[in-house]
Amino acid sequence: MKKYIVTALAVVSSVCAIAGEKPTSGVMFDASKGVAGSVSMPNGKIVNYTAYTKLYYVTNVEDSTYQYMNVFVPDGADQSTPIFMPNYVGGYMAAKPQSVNAGDASGRALAEGYVVAIPGVRGRNSVVTNADGESVYTGRAPKALLDLKAAVRYLRHFDKEMPGDAEKIITNGTSAGGAMSALLGATGNNPVYEEYLKEMGAANERDDIFAAVCFCPITDLDHADAAYEWLYGCTNNVTRHLSDEQAEVSKELASQYPAYLNSLNLKKADGTLLTSDNYLDYLKELLMKSAQEAKDYGATIPDSIGFAFSGMPQFIAPVNGGMRGDGRPALRPERSAKSQGEYITDLDLERYLNYVVSMTPLKTPPAFDSKGVAGNNASGENEEFGDENGSSVNFTDYSLQKSTGNEDAQVDSRIKTAVKLMNPMNFISAPNTTVAQHWYIRHGAIDRDTAFPVPINLATKLQNEGKDVNFKLAWNRPHSGDYALNEMFEWIKSLLDKP
Ligand code: DHB
Repeated sequence: MKKYIVTALAVVSSVCAIAGEKPTSGVMFDASKGVAGSVSMPNGKIVNYTAYTKLYYVTNVEDSTYQYMNVFVPDGADQSTPIFMPNYVGGYMAAKPQSVNAGDASGRALAEGYVVAIPGVRGRNSVVTNADGESVYTGRAPKALLDLKAAVRYLRHFDKEMPGDAEKIITNGTSAGGAMSALLGATGNNPVYEEYLKEMGAANERDDIFAAVCFCPITDLDHADAAYEWLYGCTNNVTRHLSDEQAEVSKELASQYPAYLNSLNLKKADGTLLTSDNYLDYLKELLMKSAQEAKDYGATIPDSIGFAFSGMPQFIAPVNGGMRGDGRPALRPERSAKSQGEYITDLDLERYLNYVVSMTPLKTPPAFDSKGVAGNNASGENEEFGDENGSSVNFTDYSLQKSTGNEDAQVDSRIKTAVKLMNPMNFISAPNTTVAQHWYIRHGAIDRDTAFPVPINLATKLQNEGKDVNFKLAWNRPHSGDYALNEMFEWIKSLLDKP
């Protein structure tokens, strides 16, 4: 027995010795534990890597199913190689630490030569059984973000020991995972998270990142219900069928949004102040730009969804080198039979929004803080802000007041704090925060999981703070992520090529 303990201690001390001159943290990394592997890409390319798995990124592990990370180092990577850090959070649920996947951005990142770090993350559904046999929910807000921050700190802590440059971490996520990526980008080093991270036994390091890739981020949850009704209220009597009670809720929520929108003081790139009066024109511009780009690439934009086109007939390059079928030269260039000209000139927004809704029916109001309001059940977000006993709770005063019938009810301070810590909009202009310099944000032009102003406001606020933001409403994309990876990885490369 004694011999066993001595041996075990020897192992621990030798592993700690590798952590070397950093005695303050107990997190460990052993560079000799790498295991060779390979992934076969869809184009037939085989990418060989060394994997370091089960890297626990905190010392006080509460949930061993999730609180570790797997790191994949492709052959040829060195200390200066950027680190791509995807998360697989969806629906605010827990995500296991996965292996690289040839079919998504993780595999592509590896094939591009980047180190890939995939942390597990606790979520609203993660549970452990405690010593008394009771279920404890381990991942209620803001735990998912804390795990990801701890993972970033871990990478920085072992930056010298592990291939890859922890000053070049690029995060990636979709939907709730896109929100996590946005939070990582927006909240770097903010002291409000410090106590929690210390308690978890995260490494005592910075947690800012270089760049954030966010696909359809489901974020700004405390204003998302109002945004949804403000934008989509125009469809209530057309494509959406609400009870009288729901219609009333929709109207009340919609009326709250202008004050919030105006309080943001957002500006367009040309300096124009965005207000609730001109905001829909801004949205129209973004949607028209999206459709125009798709059209330029050859997509057909249906006539029926609200766009207007310049009158000029569209020029179509002559086929057969301009010859007629019988071999004689064409008399004149062939022209499109359609009335669509080259340019999109206008958009009937209401018509377009009704089209979006016809593709995927809307959520009923309130779209996010739905529990107990107008006959709605609890949403994933109601669980996200619940406690370790597995409760689901209202997290906005409006829904709490509606669900309790008490017009003075206020969300309690634990929940208020969690909501604040989970909203990147609160940190982009905050002091003592290192916001990522580079952002790639995509939201599908037919994605109705949250209203367009949510990602637009995020992108615009970042732009207004001088950040480098590549933002698009991606044409014809529903709620989804990891698409147009050529474009995304070209963007990443362009950042790294900058001096
Ligand atoms: C996700 C989708 C939602 O509609 C939502 O409210 C929260 C999360 C998701 O896909 O992650």
